[in-house]
Amino acid sequence: MVKSKEALQAVYAERTPKSRMQWERGKPVMPGGVIKSAYWFAPHPTYMDRGDGCYIWDIDGNKYVDFTNHHTATILGHNHPAVMEAIQKELERGMALSGPTTLEAEIAEELIERIPGVEKVRYTNSATESAIHIARMVRTITGKPKLAKFEGAYHGSHDALEFSTAPSIDQAGPEDAPNTVPAQPGMIPNAEDSVIMLPYNQPETVDLILREHKDELAAVFFDGKPAMMDIPVEFSQFIRDITDELGILLVYDETVSFMAGPGGYQGEAEIKPDLSMFGKIVGGGLPGGAIGGKSEYMDLLDISEGNEGPFVSGTFSGNSMTLAAGLATLRALTPDIYAHIDGLRQRAHIGLENAAERVGIPFHILSAGTMINAYPSSTPVRDHRSYLNIDSDMFERILLGLTNKGNYMGRGHMSMVLSAPMENSDVDRLINAFEEVLNDQD
Ligand SMILES: Cc1ncc(COP(=O)(O)O)c(C=O)c1O
Repeated sequence: MVKSKEALQAVYAERTPKSRMQWERGKPVMPGGVIKSAYWFAPHPTYMDRGDGCYIWDIDGNKYVDFTNHHTATILGHNHPAVMEAIQKELERGMALSGPTTLEAEIAEELIERIPGVEKVRYTNSATESAIHIARMVRTITGKPKLAKFEGAYHGSHDALEFSTAPSIDQAGPEDAPNTVPAQPGMIPNAEDSVIMLPYNQPETVDLILREHKDELAAVFFDGKPAMMDIPVEFSQFIRDITDELGILLVYDETVSFMAGPGGYQGEAEIKPDLSMFGKIVGGGLPGGAIGGKSEYMDLLDISEGNEGPFVSGTFSGNSMTLAAGLATLRALTPDIYAHIDGLRQRAHIGLENAAERVGIPFHILSAGTMINAYPSSTPVRDHRSYLNIDSDMFERILLGLTNKGNYMGRGHMSMVLSAPMENSDVDRLINAFEEVLNDQD
């Protein structure tokens, strides 16, 4: 069941000869042949030519339904008229105007209206930047030095939090006292001493660890991982309650989970964190990130009258292209659009589940907002360690098989992402292709 990797890669290579040539051209001038580190299906990346609605075309002319949506960022698909018009209007006004613009308050108001824990907003260039700055903010606010995060969570690429994002089981340490494992070479020596690792879905263990470290912990960073891990809202509520009780700030990473609904994961869960970090959707498809939270903490960033709070700025932070695209995106995300996306999600979830059952392969399927993950696994994916137990080889082959059939798939925890322009027919084709891929043999 499911073709071999070699057979699938041969089909892929045959469909994408121009991508192969482009990659060969890129190798002498860019590390790995590409402009940014990214995962791709072997043997070479698929070079994209253009997109429209929920479709993308590669440089070989293959058309795909885009089930990656730029890692959830392009929730309205490609070239949404309102977003294009907003960017065009800003382009005509000038690309960088050297001072604040009226767009700033507009997008801040829009975010505040939607998101329970956001009373004030600051823009950055990415979620990574947001996390770097929030790490400084929480230390400044509390006067405490350390941060806690969950094993298997990624909060951007930087030395404050990039630990145990995906540790191997032999590095990860005991389940009830996970190691803090640097995720990258070259990180600041001993930076791991400033980060406490927590396990998802284990309230008793989290309780013990947080109580032990409460006097040195400035904040817990938390990603609810909807559709990526099976984390009940009760666990998220427990994290809110215990951080409140122990005087530790709670920071939500809504970079991806903002796709869960109009108010992000916190809106769906009805939980108010102290601060939140954003990226992806809030830039409307252009580079961007944001920090939001309670006014009493956000006001730290007001350095206009001698206040010495952390300097959170950057040449292109909150640039008007990003703000215009982000604002147009948020405004286009009406209740009707969320209802449409939710209909697609339910259809996909049930359809994939039924297909898997017909074929007789056990899957753990999770879905929320725009995201679906169909993990080949007979046990639920509740944390990073159970994710390590899925049949990752089969998962990879399924995603490649689907891509070969014209469904451009993501990888890992962001494998299937819906967008507003999709129709039931796009989802039905995915379900049919899924069943075919499961049944295909060499
Ligand atoms: C949950 C989460 N947080 C933070 C980031 C970092 O975002 P950015 O790439 O905008 O720096 C990512 C990126 O994928 C993410 O998935």
